[in-house]
Order: sequence, then C-alpha cells, then structure tokens
Amino acid sequence: MVFVWRYQIPKGLVLFLSFWSLAEGGKLLVVPQDGSHWLSMRVVLEKLWERGHEIVAVIPEATLLLNSSQSFTIKTYSVPYTQEFLDESYNSIGENSFGNSPTLENFVFLLINMSELTNIFSSACRHLLYNKELMKYLNDTKFDAIMTDPVLPCGPIVAENLSLPSVYFMRGLPCTLDYQAAQCPSPFSYVPKTFTSSADHMTFTERVKNLLVGISEDLLCYLFYLKYENLASEVLQREVTVLELFSKASIWLMRYDFVFEYPRPIMPNMVYVGGINCAQRKSLSKVCRCFH
Ligand SMILES: *[C@@H]1O[C@H](CO)[C@@H](O)[C@H](O)[C@H]1NC(C)=O
Ligand SMILES: *[C@@H]1O[C@H](CO)[C@@H](O)[C@H](O)[C@H]1NC(C)=O
Ligand SMILES: *[C@@H]1O[C@H](CO)[C@@H](O)[C@H](O)[C@H]1NC(C)=O
Ligand SMILES: *[C@@H]1O[C@H](CO)[C@@H](O)[C@H](O)[C@H]1NC(C)=O
Repeated sequence: MVFVWRYQIPKGLVLFLSFWSLAEGGKLLVVPQDGSHWLSMRVVLEKLWERGHEIVAVIPEATLLLNSSQSFTIKTYSVPYTQEFLDESYNSIGENSFGNSPTLENFVFLLINMSELTNIFSSACRHLLYNKELMKYLNDTKFDAIMTDPVLPCGPIVAENLSLPSVYFMRGLPCTLDYQAAQCPSPFSYVPKTFTSSADHMTFTERVKNLLVGISEDLLCYLFYLKYENLASEVLQREVTVLELFSKASIWLMRYDFVFEYPRPIMPNMVYVGGINCAQRKSLSKVCRCFH
C-alpha cells in the first residue's frame, strides 16, 4: 500500500499486475525423452522457469543426458537396468546408426536397432507408471499441464492416466504419425514419404512406390510401438492405439523447419518452432564466410 501511495502507481497498472500474477506461475509436469531430444527441451524449460512457472521433471535413475538444473525440480524413479548397461547399448547403436547412407534398407536396420532401445525405455516407462508413490504425488500435485516429447509415448500415457492436457515438444514421430494423429491431409500422390527421395511432383511409378512405402511404414510403426500400446492398454484399462494417444495432444510444438521438411497442410494447434534447434548456435567458420 505504502509503495502504491508513494509512487502513485495507476490503478489500472495494479489491476494489470494482479491479473498478470494470476496468469503467471503455472505448474508444469515434464516427462522428457532422454538423449539429444533433451538438449532443446532443457533450454525451453529454463525459459519457462524464468517466466515464473513451476516445473517438475520426472526422469529415470539411469540416464544418458537427462540432468538436473536449478530451474526445475527433478523426481527420479528406479529402473530395471544399470547406467553401464544403458551407456553400452547406446554406444553400440550409435556406431551402427551413423555413417550409413539414408536408404530404405538402412532405415529398416535403424528401426530394428532403435526398437532395442525402445524396449529399454518402455521398461523404464512401466516402472514409472507402476511407481505408486510417485504417481500419487504427481496426481496430488494438480499440475496445469504436462509437457512431453512423445516420440516414445510415455508422457502421453501419463497424461491420460492423470487426465492432464498435454503440450508436445518434439522433433517428429516416425511414419508421420504426428500428421496422422492430428488428421492433417497427407495424400500419397503429393506428400512424399521420408527416405523415398521424391519431391511433391511425382511420376506414376514414384507415387506407387510412395504408397507401398506408406503401407510398410504402418507395419513397422505398429511393431515399433507395440510395447507402448500394450503398456497403455494395461495401465489405462482399455484398448488404446498409439495413434489415439497422440490424437489427445492439445498443442504440438514441432521442431521442424522447411529447410528439411516439405511444406504440407497442418492443423491450427501445430506450431513450427524449428528455430529452437539453433538456440545454441556457433558463428560461421572462416571458410563459410568467404561465400558472403
Ligand atoms: C546438464 O547438461 C547440459 C548439456 O549436456 C550441460 O550444459 C549442463 O551443464 C548440465 N547441468 C548440470 C547441472 O549438470
Ligand atoms: C544394432 O544393430 C547391429 C547390427 O546392425 C548389431 O550388431 C548391434 O548389436 C545392435 N545393437 C543393439 C543395442 O541392439
Ligand atoms: C487422482 O486423484 C483423484 C482424486 O483427487 C482420484 O479420483 C483419481 O483416481 C486419481 N488418479 C490416479 C491416476 O491416481
Ligand atoms: C492409472 O494407472 C493406475 C495404475 O496402473 C491404474 O490403476 C488406474 O486405473 C489408471 N487410471 C486411469 C484413469 O487411467
């Protein structure tokens, strides 16, 4: 009061500030994806904290890159594997994934390898969902929303279980499940599938190839997500598909950029935030500057 009187702060401003403080300070639950996906999310969480939001991130005890910060609270849950096992698996997959050309065949190998990693992560997710104490704490905390990278859909299952609206922050889902879940038009004749090397103008043969890739993709993704689909159906006590889980997203923050993606129709709750990938940029090297 004294402050207001001495400095003659206009009533409107006081009113504005009180509404502002109401709008501030949301409670956000974060279920992040370990690995490189974490690096971009971490930057966003720190910004959210700076803007007065309270953030709780749940992470497994053994992690690759997930780590703590003064900006948010960390809750850990136990997992059925050791840090050493996780590091070894990750290195082995890393060695096999990089340096290969992006052909369909290598893509299939990569998917098989990735599904090994998926098994590890899905067992971690199971341990989170069946951690009664932690889940009760999360439920009792009454979060406003959950922010998650849904590529391995642990966050979406938690969101369903706790009935929380979800914000997806992601680099993409395999088999364009993101566009499928949001019901974006994606005709085989005009939108080329990943790794087909086609453009939006396709010959008849290319369109047929695109269709066939699309169909086989669906099978691959079914197998890729099978563990999660089973886990979700078990926990939520009804039959659920991953597509249905993904379709619950309130907002999609997509780390996409047209430098890499084809322009395509998207839904109003999908926001392209590809620039975030360059948040920690380095200046161009001398060699590059010569072209300017
Ligand atoms: C967490 O990891 C990031 C990126 O690897 C690093 O920059 C940061 O210093 C780490 N923070 C802590 C508290 O370990
Ligand atoms: C990944 O696949 C390669 C063969 O392509 C295999 O040698 C390696 O053991 C696999 N790694 C894991 C963790 O499954
Ligand atoms: C969360 O708490 C509410 C009561 O506040 C309860 O009805 C609900 O079953 C709880 N959900 C879970 C998943 O524990
Ligand atoms: C949430 O998960 C718990 C533990 O598996 C389960 O008992 C409960 O029925 C689930 N609640 C909802 C709403 O899915």
